[in-house]
Amino acid sequence: MRRPIIAGNWKMNLDRSDSIELARGVVQGTHPAGVEIVMCPTFVYLDAVSGILEGSPVKLGGQDGYQEPNGAFTGAISMAMLADLGCEYVILGHSERRHCMGETNDLVNGKMKAALATGITPILCVGELLEERESGQTQAVVESQMDGSLADLSAEQVAQTVIAYEPVWAIGTGKTATPEQAQEVHADLRKLLAKRYNAQSSDTVRILYGGSVKPSNAAELLSQPDIDGALVGGASLQAESFLQIIAASTAEAAN
Ligand code: PGA
Repeated sequence: MRRPIIAGNWKMNLDRSDSIELARGVVQGTHPAGVEIVMCPTFVYLDAVSGILEGSPVKLGGQDGYQEPNGAFTGAISMAMLADLGCEYVILGHSERRHCMGETNDLVNGKMKAALATGITPILCVGELLEERESGQTQAVVESQMDGSLADLSAEQVAQTVIAYEPVWAIGTGKTATPEQAQEVHADLRKLLAKRYNAQSSDTVRILYGGSVKPSNAAELLSQPDIDGALVGGASLQAESFLQIIAASTAEAAN
């Protein structure tokens, strides 16, 4: 049984006091034992949020991290720095980084290796553009992103990663993939893991769905057999809606 993860991606939102307030609100909410809860604030407020999460089961994650351990890489943050601040997870290859910052599968692959070497669990994002979906390329696109980003990793390393399927056309748009559309891609990705690695990694890897997840659609998405949680953007910026999504996943975990 895969333990569901509900992860909040705050993106470039919230100032220091709003970050602290949101973290406090989530910490004070209900934390069902069967669900892992992760919050990913901006780099500059990781330390402040880390202090609030101390002693709670809510975990901390970075929104990105660089592949080199240190050196002349202006503006970059290493995986060891994230770990030092208490991060157990790091989002890698998010579509906003792929499309706004030009990240390639090669770069994401280097970051994946660095995260795993540091003991941080990477949440690898993959997802197709609207035109790619409309021209029937969804499967090819997500498979090549996954293959490129996981290159050279062993089956054991792959089993330690989390994958997030986030159709780009559903991110921040209010358009959600239907539970059936999401399930289809998740099942394809799981089959590919079995083919490229082994049955154990395919059974172990948690595949999250992301793209306009909100309290009203979470339960239905999370009820799909291959959807093991959610990566939540907009709806993670308020404690109440994030806690409602967590509660929806508990209902699923209990079923
Ligand atoms: P959204 O973002 O929930 O605001 O669509 C999800 C994400 O980009 O991770």
